[in-house]
Amino acid sequence: MVALLKNGTSPRGSVMGPMADVVYRSTQHLSEADLEAMAVFLKELPDRTPAATATPAPSRDADVMARGARIYDQRCAYCHGDAGQGAEGAYPPLAGNRAVTMDSTVNLMQVVRLGGFLPSTAGNPRPYGMPPFSHVLDDNDIAAVLTYVRGSWGNDAAPVSPRETARR
Ligand code: HEC
Repeated sequence: MVALLKNGTSPRGSVMGPMADVVYRSTQHLSEADLEAMAVFLKELPDRTPAATATPAPSRDADVMARGARIYDQRCAYCHGDAGQGAEGAYPPLAGNRAVTMDSTVNLMQVVRLGGFLPSTAGNPRPYGMPPFSHVLDDNDIAAVLTYVRGSWGNDAAPVSPRETARR
């Protein structure tokens, strides 16, 4: 959490959109002690994740997964890795990434459509960016590739429907 607020990126996630602004303008300038205090406070907030037993295992359509895998191999794997492992210091892993398996898929659809740009910080002065895909992938493609990413390499989050992507 301290690395995320200081550098805009950490091995387990990165900041984008309005949060990138917050890091750029504000939190990167805080002292280590203030960042640690903030992290301690945030960790003490109640966990709102429902108990694992309450969520049924999501079922995924084999055709959608195959289509998603094809798109992933063509368009995503050269940065995020064949097994979603990412590349340290450059591309975030998608396997085991909480941002990828969260219930809300709004950020995922945004990053695939519009691309993602991290803030430049002292700890990460030349961040790598992610290109936008809205001109090459339609709603069905985006739903398929996100369903694949959310359901591969140990990730086990619910599929994304094309209707969901069309609404955003
Ligand atoms: C040229 C390299 C590159 C390609 C190709 C690429 N990405 Fe990314 N991706 C990045 C970088 C760099 C970031 C971190 C920047 C950011 O989060 O804004 C990122 C961030 C992400 C995130 C957010 C992760 C997080 O921790 O918040 C997701 C999800 C994602 N990419 C999925 C994809 C998918 C799906 C594809 C293929 C359609 C793809 N990426 C193609 C470089 C790439």
